[in-house]
Amino acid sequence: MKALEGVKILDFTHVQSGPTCTQLLAWFGADVFKVERPGVGDATRKQLVDVPGADSLYFTMLNHNKRSIELNSKNETGKEVLTRLIETCDVLVENFAPGALDRMGFSWERIQEINPRLIMASVKGFGPGKYEDCKVYENVAQCAGGAASTTGFRDGPPVVTGAQIGDSGTGLHLALGIVTALYQRERSGRGQKVLAPMQDGVINLCRVKLRDQQRLAAGPLEEYSQFGEGVPFGDATPRAGNDSGGGQPGRILKCKGWETDPNAYTYFITQAAVWEKICDVIGEPEWKTKEGFAKPKERLDKLNKIFDRIEQWTMTKTKFEVMEICNPHDIPVGPILSTKEIMDDQGLRETGTIVDVEHPERGTYVSVGCPVKLSDSPVEVERSPLLGEHTGEILRDVLGYTGDDLDRVVASGAVGEPGKIAAE
Ligand SMILES: CC(C)(COP(=O)(O)OP(=O)(O)OC[C@H]1O[C@@H](n2cnc3c(N)ncnc32)[C@H](O)[C@@H]1OP(=O)(O)O)[C@@H](O)C(=O)NCCC(=O)NCCS
Repeated sequence: MKALEGVKILDFTHVQSGPTCTQLLAWFGADVFKVERPGVGDATRKQLVDVPGADSLYFTMLNHNKRSIELNSKNETGKEVLTRLIETCDVLVENFAPGALDRMGFSWERIQEINPRLIMASVKGFGPGKYEDCKVYENVAQCAGGAASTTGFRDGPPVVTGAQIGDSGTGLHLALGIVTALYQRERSGRGQKVLAPMQDGVINLCRVKLRDQQRLAAGPLEEYSQFGEGVPFGDATPRAGNDSGGGQPGRILKCKGWETDPNAYTYFITQAAVWEKICDVIGEPEWKTKEGFAKPKERLDKLNKIFDRIEQWTMTKTKFEVMEICNPHDIPVGPILSTKEIMDDQGLRETGTIVDVEHPERGTYVSVGCPVKLSDSPVEVERSPLLGEHTGEILRDVLGYTGDDLDRVVASGAVGEPGKIAAE
C-alpha cells in the first residue's frame, strides 16, 4: 500500500514548479491526472528537445507516475468534463498565471459549489500585494526572495543558484501544504485553498540570511571572510562567496587535478571542535598551541593564510582522498560532485535517487527519483505519460463516461483527436 493511495489529484500544472509537486504526490501513491491542452500539452514537452520527435527530458523528468488527459477547458464540453473531474478529485493543483482559473470560469467560489471537499493548491509568483498579478519564473523568484543578493562574491554581481529553489523548492512547499490540508480535511470535512508563492518559498529557504540581516545591528558578522579582511559591512547581508553559513569558517579549496577538472575541489570547514586534528592532518601541529592560531576568534583575521595552507595540502590529494582522510577525524569536508559523477554514483542508484527509466519515444534515460524515502510506501518510478495517453481511460474509468455520452464528449473535440481515443 502507498501512503496517498486513493487520493485523486486534478493536476492542472505546467512547466516546473507545479509538476514537481504533483510528481511527489504521485510517488507517494496519489492518482494524478495531468490535464493538458489538446494537441499542445505542457509547453515543456517541446522545450530543450534533445531527441527530435520525443518528449523532452525537461518534461519527462518532471512528470513521472502521472496519467495524461487532453482537455480544452475553455470549450463548453471541456468545462463539463473539468467539472466532473473537480467533483471526483480530492485536490486540484495549478500554477497558471494569476486569474487564469477565474477566466476559465472556475473561481474558488464556483469550485467550492462543485465540491466543498476539494483542496485547491496554487503556486503563484508572489502572494497578495503589489506584485500579485506578475508572471514569475525561477530566477525572478530567486532574485525577489533574497537568494541572488546573498549568493556570489562580494566584489561581483548577484548570482542565481543552479538549485531550482524557486520552482522545485516551491513545489515542495506546496506538497507539504496539500498533505497538511488533506489531514485537516479528515477532521473538518472541508477543503481549503493552499497558496505557495515562489517569493515566499525562496525567502523561507533564505531564512539564515534574514537572521544575519538582523545580527548586523549588533555589529559585523564575524564569521564572514570580509570581517577578517577588514572590509566594512553595509546595511544588508552581503554576498559571502563560499563562506559557510553556520558560523564555522569554511571555503572551497582546490584538489589534485584542478588545473584541468573544473570540479576538482572540496569544501573544507575549519570547525573549532576538530581544529587540532586539522593541524595534524595538514602538517602544522604547532598551530594547535601557537598564539594567534589556537583559538577560533584569533584565527578570524588569518583565515586567508590558514585556508591557503590547507589548500596546499588538499592540492596534493584528490577530492575523494581528502574525504577519506578527513572523515575518520570528523573534519567536515565534501567533494564538489559534478552532475556526471552524481549520475554515475552506484550508491544513489541503489537508494533509487538516481534511476534509469524506459520511454517508448526516447529509449532509456536517467532521472532523479523520489528524494524522500518512506519505509512503508515504496516508490517505483514510472515514465511520464505521452500527451493524452490516458484520455479515454480517465473519461471511462475515473469519470464514468460510457456509451453515447462518451461518444458525445469525444466527438466534441474537447478531449483531443477522436481517432486517438478510439484507438486506445
Ligand atoms: C509560468 C507562467 C509564467 C507561464 O505563463 P504562460 O505561458 O503565459 O501560461 P498561463 O499560465 O498564463 O496560461 C496561458 C493560457 O493557457 C490557458 N490554458 C492552459 N491550459 C489550458 C487548457 N487545458 N485548455 C484551455 N486553455 C488552457 C490558460 O487558461 C491561459 O489562458 P488565459 O491567458 O486566457 O488566462 C505562468 O503560468 C505563471 O506565472 N505561473 C505561476 C508561477 C509559476 O508557477 N511559475 C513557474 C513556472 S515553472
